[in-house]
Amino acid sequence: MTNANTTSQSARLTVTNLSTSFPTEDGLIRSVADVSFAIQPGKTTALVGESGSGKSVTSLTLMRLLPKTANAQVSGSACFVTREGKTLDLLQIGEPAMRSLRGNQLSMIFQEPMTSLNPVFTIGEQIAESVRLHKGLDRKAALAHALRMLELVEIPAAAQRIHEYPHQLSGGMRQRVMIALAMACDPTLLIADEPTTALDVTIQAQILELMRRLQAETGMSILFITHNLGVVAHHADDVVVLYSGRVVEQAPVRPLFAQPEHPYTQGLLACLPGKARVPGQPKPKRLFAIRGQVSSPLAPPPGCAFEPRCDQALASCKDAMPPLIDIRQDRQARCVRVQPDAQLARVA
Ligand SMILES: Nc1ncnc2c1ncn2[C@@H]1O[C@H](COP(=O)(O)OP(=O)(O)OP(=O)(O)O)[C@@H](O)[C@H]1O
Ligand SMILES: [Mg+2]
Repeated sequence: MTNANTTSQSARLTVTNLSTSFPTEDGLIRSVADVSFAIQPGKTTALVGESGSGKSVTSLTLMRLLPKTANAQVSGSACFVTREGKTLDLLQIGEPAMRSLRGNQLSMIFQEPMTSLNPVFTIGEQIAESVRLHKGLDRKAALAHALRMLELVEIPAAAQRIHEYPHQLSGGMRQRVMIALAMACDPTLLIADEPTTALDVTIQAQILELMRRLQAETGMSILFITHNLGVVAHHADDVVVLYSGRVVEQAPVRPLFAQPEHPYTQGLLACLPGKARVPGQPKPKRLFAIRGQVSSPLAPPPGCAFEPRCDQALASCKDAMPPLIDIRQDRQARCVRVQPDAQLARVA
């Protein structure tokens, strides 16, 4: 994991101080504020947080796919290293350069597949069109490639299914088609925004396993967006926990699960069925739930955003937003109880 304030030379993507705000009639909504993280080649970084924490806005900002009508104010940088070794700031390059990256080296699986599959084209035509555009294949070769992709994502009877329309497929099959589409041009970075949330648990496990296999085969990096920490344990290398648009903790997956530092991360882990525990506290009899709700993005509290819901809050937490502190070289947390670089010692 890259320290928030340094740029890793080897990372596939290095996001630094990314902020996205939306001007509205009621005021400025700061959906993403000063977010920094990195994704290493061939690895998965998970972006975790509850609904409204800024996960989709982060991914859409990186892909430059925020609706034009939203007049988003974006700042920061997102340095992407291409397959050819060139470093491009995704927030600065021109639209033609971005278009040639998108769906090609840089790909995305959306939260809701029906919003990105076109209902009037067959799934084969949609995959073939992307391959023709980015790889310059002729129609026949592009359709053959589309068929290989559908087979790769284990669509049964792919040779027949290739002629079907999105509405003819089940939710799980549509999500597989989305993955085939996203993978068709051999991306070096895949952004997967809650790729399995709408699916039942068995299909979810199959899709996640499929993504893991494709990653092992192709060496692509993945930004994996989810609200489910249980999934993260099995599928991520590094974890970034977002709360109200800010990073509250980031760490490699094992130490994060072994010793979550931020009370919000501790709460998220305690919410996991079968794992309900907060360090230093007895295992609760009932499934834990973090009390209260996320504050309105229009009226954030002046201090720590999590303070109104935090069982460990101190009086000073109301005063100012704590900075993101380096706990160790590869770990950070935004909490006054966390001591900088002090072997995880806590303020009494
Ligand atoms: N176009 C927009 N205009 C104004 N506010 C927006 C816009 N898009 C998103 N937001 C706000 O930004 C915040 C973050 O939204 P985002 O969609 O990123 O959440 P999320 O973490 O992806 O949640 P979920 O888990 O429900 O998908 C929310 O408060 C949302 O209302
Ligand atoms: Mg979302």
